[in-house]
Amino acid sequence: MLLTQQQNMDPKELAWRRWVLQSGRLWADVSGIISKINIQIIDDDHKRFTQYALDLNLIIQALSNRDVSFYNLHRGEEIFENLIEYAEIHFGHEQQIMKEMETPLMAMHMGQHAKFQEMIDNYYKDFKRGRLQMVSGLKLSILDWWVNHINVTDYKTFVLGKKDNKDQEK
Ligand SMILES: [Fe+2]
Ligand SMILES: [Fe+2]
Repeated sequence: MLLTQQQNMDPKELAWRRWVLQSGRLWADVSGIISKINIQIIDDDHKRFTQYALDLNLIIQALSNRDVSFYNLHRGEEIFENLIEYAEIHFGHEQQIMKEMETPLMAMHMGQHAKFQEMIDNYYKDFKRGRLQMVSGLKLSILDWWVNHINVTDYKTFVLGKKDNKDQEK
C-alpha cells in the first residue's frame, strides 16, 4: 500500500488517512488529505480525477458485493475511460508546466506518470475480461497511488521546486 510508504508519518495519522480513502465518496470527504499545489489548472485536475477514482471505488465495491448488474459493468467501463483519458490530459498539463520551470525532477516525474498509466490500462483490460475478483483487489490502489503522487511528487516538483527556483534567482 503506497500510503504506508510515506515516511515520518505518525501511525494515527496514517490510519486516519487510510480510513478517509476507504470511506470517502466525494471530493469533500477526501480533500483534506490531498495537498494543494496552488496552480489552478493542476488543482482543478486533481479534484476531477480524484472524483473519478472515488466513483470507481464505489463500483468496485458494488461488484465485489456481487452486485454484478449491467448498469455497474457499463458504469465501470465509463469510469475507466474517463480515468484513462483524464490522466493523459492532466499529465500533459504537468509536463508543460515542468518544461517551463525547467525542473530537474522532470524525467523522474514523467516516469511515474507512465507507470501509473500502464497500471490503469492493465486494470481496465482485466476489468473488460471480466476478472472481477482480481479487480476487487484494486479498490484502493488507483486512489492510493494518485493521492500519494500528489502529496509527494507533485508537491516536491511544483511547490518545493518553485521555492528552489525563487531562491536561485536571489
Ligand atoms: Fe498531478
Ligand atoms: Fe504528477
